[in-house]
Amino acid sequence: MIRNRVTTLLLLLTLLAAAGSAGAAASSALAAVSAGRLVTVGGFESAFVPARDIHIWLPEGYSAEKRYAVLYMHDGAALWDAATTWNGQEWGVDEAVSKLLEEGAIRDVIVVGIANAGPNAGSERAIEYLPQAPFEAMAEADRAALVGFEHPQFGRIFDGPIRSDAYLRFLVEELKPYVDAHYATLADRDNTFVMGSSMGGLISVYALSEYPDVFGGAAALSTHWPGGDPGGGPGSDSGGSAFSQQMQEYLKRNLPAPAGHRLWFDYGSEGLDAAYAGHQRVVDGIVRNKGYDNDRWITYHDEGAAHDENAWRARLHLPLTFLLAPPPPAPPEVLARVASPDGRNEFSLLIDGRGQPRYSLRRNDEVVIDDSRLGLRFATQAEFGKGFTLAGAEQRAHDETWEQPWGERRFVRDHHNELLLRFVDAAERRFDLRVRAFDDGIGFRYEVPAQPGFETVHIVDELTEFTLSRDSTAWWIPGRRYNRYEYLYHTTSLDEIVLAQTPMTVRTPAGTHLSIHEAALTDYASFVLDQRRERVFQTNLTPWSDGIRVRTAAPFKTPWRTVQMADDAVGLLNSSLILNLNEPNALGDVSWVEPGKYVGIWWAMHIRQRTWGSGPIHGATTAETQRYMDFAAKYGFDGVLVEGWNLGWDGDWFHNGDLFQFAEPYPDFDIEVVAEYGRQKGVRLIGHHETSGNVTNYAEQMDAAFDLYESVGVRQVKTGYVADGGNIKRVDENGVVRYEWHDGQFNVGEYLRSVTEAAERRISINTHEPIKDTGLRRTYPNWLTREGARGQEFNAWGVPPNPPEHEAILPFTRMLAGPMDFTPGIFDLTPFGPDSQHRVQTTLAKQLALYVTLYSPVQMAADLPENYEARPDALQFIVDVPADWEESVALAGEVGDFAVIARQERGGPDWYLGAVTDEERRELEIPLGFLAEGRRYTAQIYRDGYHANWQTNPYELVIEERPARKGEVLSLRLAPGGGAAVRFRAED
Ligand code: NOJ
Ligand code: CA
Repeated sequence: MIRNRVTTLLLLLTLLAAAGSAGAAASSALAAVSAGRLVTVGGFESAFVPARDIHIWLPEGYSAEKRYAVLYMHDGAALWDAATTWNGQEWGVDEAVSKLLEEGAIRDVIVVGIANAGPNAGSERAIEYLPQAPFEAMAEADRAALVGFEHPQFGRIFDGPIRSDAYLRFLVEELKPYVDAHYATLADRDNTFVMGSSMGGLISVYALSEYPDVFGGAAALSTHWPGGDPGGGPGSDSGGSAFSQQMQEYLKRNLPAPAGHRLWFDYGSEGLDAAYAGHQRVVDGIVRNKGYDNDRWITYHDEGAAHDENAWRARLHLPLTFLLAPPPPAPPEVLARVASPDGRNEFSLLIDGRGQPRYSLRRNDEVVIDDSRLGLRFATQAEFGKGFTLAGAEQRAHDETWEQPWGERRFVRDHHNELLLRFVDAAERRFDLRVRAFDDGIGFRYEVPAQPGFETVHIVDELTEFTLSRDSTAWWIPGRRYNRYEYLYHTTSLDEIVLAQTPMTVRTPAGTHLSIHEAALTDYASFVLDQRRERVFQTNLTPWSDGIRVRTAAPFKTPWRTVQMADDAVGLLNSSLILNLNEPNALGDVSWVEPGKYVGIWWAMHIRQRTWGSGPIHGATTAETQRYMDFAAKYGFDGVLVEGWNLGWDGDWFHNGDLFQFAEPYPDFDIEVVAEYGRQKGVRLIGHHETSGNVTNYAEQMDAAFDLYESVGVRQVKTGYVADGGNIKRVDENGVVRYEWHDGQFNVGEYLRSVTEAAERRISINTHEPIKDTGLRRTYPNWLTREGARGQEFNAWGVPPNPPEHEAILPFTRMLAGPMDFTPGIFDLTPFGPDSQHRVQTTLAKQLALYVTLYSPVQMAADLPENYEARPDALQFIVDVPADWEESVALAGEVGDFAVIARQERGGPDWYLGAVTDEERRELEIPLGFLAEGRRYTAQIYRDGYHANWQTNPYELVIEERPARKGEVLSLRLAPGGGAAVRFRAED
């Protein structure tokens, strides 16, 4: 009992703070500071409130040349010097601020302590600190109870009418202008703060709420929410609850929005502070509802702390650091930019505060690649990136139209603006970044000139990042996995991605579509996108078996890093960016490179009717090849692929790549005879080299292998690298076996070697289990096509087979890289019977549509001759459709839903159209704007029947003809898993 009364007395004294004679002593004695300088302005006059002392503390080394933030603190006599305060305690402001300044934890600041007023200083404190508006909103009886309290020893705490509004006017209209006039201050809101404890906490929050344009932050320590006499604690607080409630109402209405404001609250657990937790919790709710987050607001509970200066001193560094944290460095200026010819795509370069070059990409007003790092790391030389400055920037414009020997269009316009950025560091080391901005996207690459110390270069990391927008959707396959590029596409938010292959397609929240990829990958490692931090994807280069990513020497250039950009999904399909960033044809006359259509001894093995190896059902026999050649000749196919003709297929060929003999046919396959047979029929033998990933075995025989094919007139060879990712077998110069990745620098070189070796013999290449396409067909036009995604073969044995959406994703993902040997045209959709899970999940019409939607200059008719002979009506489309085009236009589509593409035959007037859908039925209205003006066409339409459905009724195919002209609209109805194929035959 007695103890309680003593405690209450002490608390009251604290609440009165500099009350009584102690307060008077504070204003008369001169406070000493242990750091900085204290200027006391005695008896500062005011038109609003009685005069008082003002203590202006200037930090060590204060200089009028600098600019200082200002912190206004109430109870200004208690801040500096315990020897001069009523209770022998002090806040220790000079010590705390000096220490934080030294540590660089806060910005330069002046602290202005506002002492209490009057001759009997403390007695007028409460009437200046009690927020007036909430007080006046209280019921009269509550007001009387609150201010009427009389202490037996000290008398009235509220000694006169509440005048806190006047006190704030004094602070804002008189004191602040004085301080700003006499000291080198930053007078703006973002550099003006207010702080106090207990009732000084109340007036601090009130000041911020009344003058939100003056104060950028308030710290209220041990805020005395009850307002007046604490009595025996909550519940018996003489109107305290009533004030607290009105204060809460006031804050709900008047606490300013978070922008430009910071709020610090704290409370201890002892003494008066024991009464605060409940009040504070309600205030916290209000602050949260106002939208304050952790950056702008902290409520800190100091467990065990009492209600006195010693406690506030102990934690003062916390509110100081929170309020006065040095402002974030001004965003570095953009040093250089380049925009596309249409002005819509823009690349910007900046060097950040740490000296790190970074870039960003915009399309229209949208930042599509946010602030992203640039740089390279080496095994022995110091990093390219941090510490480099921009030594020069050169711009030039380019507009040229070039012709493709074959392709999805004959003429390609290369229209871009180029920016060459030259970087240098203090040691005179140099690298350049070449940027090209096109209307369909942006590409950039590093170019490292010859320079001392770069005679040998081992790249261990490329630092290029792509920072994507929050809430984007991505279509992607995983990177660095055993099945290389042969995965089903995921459609997810970004957070589900760890490593992704490129091209990766992304739709931003604004609907912009991007494809991140690379162009012109020749003597470098490929990269996968590695989500290192949220939304930040780094180019993770595929390593050699020893961990080095790239072995090179200056001068060298990296492949182009590319971001194709379009307003919608269809826009991506019409991009030529990847081709434009490749070097022109390096092979000279390539008239010997022949696009075309082929059949082959192939599907029969995949559906296990035949074998690659020798035995009773060996596929690659002379007779069987002749049968296929007869079929090819009858229907106008250009070639017959034969797999399993050479020694090495017997046994476990997947793991026995060493056994392949590339110039040794099985005895039942007479290569001379079949080649001659084909010659007479006008059909070429198409060669096959399966390496099972043993590239050294292949390299050793490559000459002989291509020589043999050349000698019998073979013009096209399909190569294969069936091996798990990371299992490319290389025998090094010391005879040691190493295992490499398909997409590491070593095998990137091996793929290209097969292409250039073949070119010397006028042979073209179709690569399976390839390196991803980066547009090298422009430079090496004999590199016709490749696999590099889940193809038709997965429908024979894949678990699961390709779902209906697969072919509605491919055009927007894999196909953006270049042609694919998907091998469409399966007519017997359930080769293992209707109940097997191994089947084709499309309608028959969709198989036809794929010849148009999935571009390849060599297209296979993948099924068995007998299955085609059973459907001559459908076969007619495959017979008619070309594999080489004058022009291509994507007309409609959404990634993973559907795609509609039209192409004009190379050197002829006919147009072809393919439309595919996913598992959804779809009604499409296709304007025929692509047809030639004034020309009459007959549309030969191969479409799903009314009841067609890939699962239950895949063969219902309607073939019909109708006249068509430019400007008309073609209505198409695609079945679930269906499609449509149309030939527009020109009639005049
Ligand atoms: C995988 C290829 O994708 C396929 O087309 C070929 O038949 C087998 N490897 C055998 O080489
Ligand atoms: Ca394959």
